[in-house]
Amino acid sequence: MAGPWWRDAVVYQVYPRSFADSDASGEGDLQGIRSRLPYLADLAVDAIWLNPFYTSPLHDSGYDVADYFDVDPRFGTLEDFDALVTDAAALKIRVIIDIVPNHCSSRHPWFQEAIIAGPGSDARERFIFRDSPNNWQSAFGGPAWTRTQDGQWYLHLFDSTQPDFNWRHPDVPAMFERVLRFWLDRGAAAIRIDMANTLFKDPELPDLPEDAPLAPYYDQPELHQLYRSWRKILDSYPAGTFPGPRGAVAEIWFSSPGTVRPYLTKDGLPQTFNFRLTLVPWAAAELRAVIDEACELIKDSGGSMPWVLGNHDITRLVSRLGIDQALIRHPTDALKRGEAQVDVPMGTRRARAAVLLLLALPGTAYLYQGDELGLPEHYAIPASRREDPTFRRTGGAAVGRDGCRVPLPWSGTAPPYGFASRPVRTWLPQPTDWATLTVEAELSDPDSVLNLYRAATHLRREHPALGDGDMTWLESNPDELAFTREPGFGFVANLGDKPIYLPAGSRILLASGPIVNRGVPADTAVWLQH
Ligand code: GLC
Repeated sequence: MAGPWWRDAVVYQVYPRSFADSDASGEGDLQGIRSRLPYLADLAVDAIWLNPFYTSPLHDSGYDVADYFDVDPRFGTLEDFDALVTDAAALKIRVIIDIVPNHCSSRHPWFQEAIIAGPGSDARERFIFRDSPNNWQSAFGGPAWTRTQDGQWYLHLFDSTQPDFNWRHPDVPAMFERVLRFWLDRGAAAIRIDMANTLFKDPELPDLPEDAPLAPYYDQPELHQLYRSWRKILDSYPAGTFPGPRGAVAEIWFSSPGTVRPYLTKDGLPQTFNFRLTLVPWAAAELRAVIDEACELIKDSGGSMPWVLGNHDITRLVSRLGIDQALIRHPTDALKRGEAQVDVPMGTRRARAAVLLLLALPGTAYLYQGDELGLPEHYAIPASRREDPTFRRTGGAAVGRDGCRVPLPWSGTAPPYGFASRPVRTWLPQPTDWATLTVEAELSDPDSVLNLYRAATHLRREHPALGDGDMTWLESNPDELAFTREPGFGFVANLGDKPIYLPAGSRILLASGPIVNRGVPADTAVWLQH
């Protein structure tokens, strides 16, 4: 491997609240993650990204941080974090943490101080208080402004318990420098930056015209200077010993290549996520366009864009690919309104092919916990058990993201499926029909999704053509994706109805489904050696 580790790593996203529960509280925790590290090592992952575990009232599952320098008691202690980093390093697994710089919790001492200090105070200047609101809407539904008792309004692009920081106040960048160093000093190998493109708002806070392509809180020019300064901090950490040079990946849902290009520089953040694969239908032309766009974007840029098929904000892969693909952008809500049915076997077949595509593409791949088990979205969560603020803020019109955040099934035949060591009410309910989807059940089934993932991640680690590098498309029919990577690797996927025949002279390394007489059936992908 020529470049830094993050350019071709396989990263596994751990959602701590739903990964493993060491104290049978119904919520996962750092000790739970620690106890399951051998499972992750067996999955041949190079790093784990942990969603926030900081002190938090958990109004947005931890993206509402009350103390950036501590672990919430529900997740454990700082010592548990240190032990997790140490144990992971012994298995050559790096730990990536989540930095949430756009907003904090309304319980953060700075916000509490701002509320008490009143209008005109310096404490209010750390946030965005105004005498009257503009027309901006919260991403979770409803207005992006909430009125305080003294009549002023504060801005929150998310829940009202998540006030946005004013990044033009010097205390804010100064605190985040300390946050970065605090966790990098404790051994974090990289940071994932939440809502990395919204920290600065247009100072005029203009109303958003109805047909505006871009809101005035995206991509403000000051971001680049900030991220150059963060890059200097990252680069100041020693490269010689594990975990080596420190990385960063920005969460940016870009609307067009032009808006993300300015982030992809040699001296800015090393990486921005590429979510495009999660937004397009399961169709060869669309997937190919997304892949070409990414290759074009990163060419000569100095940056790179990890591929993603799922995360804690997106409907589960199996369910996304198992519905009418015209609904791909809003599958959860379409389903809730009875407009779509999930064909789970078809979704699973496609999800198996999709992960072989993901792991064959050039660059870094992120896996979301539970996708390796082929978990579908859990739609049938009763309203009374829903946690995502989106559900509440839209009066139930949008069901929100709980269905992809359900505690993992590890073993056994009934909830909590080994998530906790004894029967417990898990923070989100698990379906009662997941007995065949547990880690235990899938490990003993040679054809399980888990065993496909294991085979693919191990092969990827060994194959010299995989990871960072180039790819070359092959001439193919419109329903096929076919490319090669040197030395000696070939990829073929059939997204149409008619079988495709494998090229002569190639040997099958791995297939996402049964291959008969070298015919690749619908919704199937193959890795080849030539
Ligand atoms: C990001 C997170 C999401 C969170 C939001 C607000 O999009 O991934 O889970 O709700 O930011 O912090």
